[in-house]
Amino acid sequence: MAAISFKNVRKNFYKVEVIRGIDLEAVEGEFLVFVGPSGCGKSTMLRMIAGLETISAGELLIDGVRVNELGPAERGAAMVFQSYALYPHMTVAQNIGFGLRMAGMPKAEVQREVQATAETLQITSLLDRYPKQLSGGQRQRVAIGRAIVRRPKVFLFDEPLSNLDAALRVQLRIELSKLHEKLKTTMIYVTHDQTEAMTLGDRIAVFNQGRIEQLGAPLELYQRPVNRFVAEFLGSPKINILPFTANSSASTLTLGGQLEVTAELFGLGPEALAKGRTLGVRPEHFELSQNGIPARVDLVEYLGDCAVIYAQIRGLDEMFTIKIAQQQVPVSSGMQIFLKPVKGEVMVFAEDGRCIR
Ligand SMILES: Nc1ncnc2c1ncn2[C@@H]1O[C@H](COP(=O)(O)OP(=O)(O)O)[C@@H](O)[C@H]1O
Ligand SMILES: [Mg+2]
Repeated sequence: MAAISFKNVRKNFYKVEVIRGIDLEAVEGEFLVFVGPSGCGKSTMLRMIAGLETISAGELLIDGVRVNELGPAERGAAMVFQSYALYPHMTVAQNIGFGLRMAGMPKAEVQREVQATAETLQITSLLDRYPKQLSGGQRQRVAIGRAIVRRPKVFLFDEPLSNLDAALRVQLRIELSKLHEKLKTTMIYVTHDQTEAMTLGDRIAVFNQGRIEQLGAPLELYQRPVNRFVAEFLGSPKINILPFTANSSASTLTLGGQLEVTAELFGLGPEALAKGRTLGVRPEHFELSQNGIPARVDLVEYLGDCAVIYAQIRGLDEMFTIKIAQQQVPVSSGMQIFLKPVKGEVMVFAEDGRCIR
């Protein structure tokens, strides 16, 4: 177990700064998730912890000790990649035991450790197989086994489930959670999948262009995002964004430059309305009503437990999504509906994207 601290860490590739002053503390034993769009610097962050990438400026500490100058082997970090990177000519047992053998551990002991690890991951029946005889999910378990067996101080996962199909991703996600509960080792997990981030993390750091937009517990980020970027990144279907202007007395809002509605509908005070430029309403925070924002239904998706309505609001380019319980769906394509936001759940974003309510 280890705590990891970034102190104003920067990383340049030639003249391009891709990590732009990160201050971050991973608490000992926590499951910390890095999430963000492709290219925002998540892998670079992990590679700097692992010692696979130099640090251009700032300090990286593991358990309070500066590790900037330490090589990968001296850091006690084990990394699991998206591509499993198993040795094709070695059996599963040999793959898992490889690092221990290289470190000079006696053969019998290696065998014991490999066996124990395989039991943890429920892959004992696969120990004599070769990687090409395994499914994707099995290969990734072996890759995880190879990391666990070394008893690292910290696990680094770089999108380990991205190559797997949806059902298997869910299964392995649950297994990883259990593994963390059992080992209680600090884990840092990179993903661009917001569902993985929401379900796995004790805390989530949302990255954008080499900076952290927000760090916090999953629900905190979901319910109280600091800005539009975080609000839009977390949540599926995505939060609905409505550009608006308020009249001088803040009694009327014009949505998308065309549609006038009463400000009362959103339950917002004059201050938020004066400074705000866009409203954010999550799909589950719209109700169907007799009056409200008029919209036309494009499509209804029935998901079993709920339905997602895709609708068009006059003057707004983007499709709207509304998520409601299945039995409440008296609508079909082409129908006119009225939407009412749940008061108290509406977010307001300023010109610069900051959430001001
Ligand atoms: N070895 C490298 N040389 C030059 N640029 C790199 C290198 N590795 C990553 N980058 C750049 O750094 C940025 C962050 O990359 P990365 O950390 O891989 O992002 P992510 O994992 O979030 O998708 C990207 O713009 C990428 O092109
Ligand atoms: Mg990456």
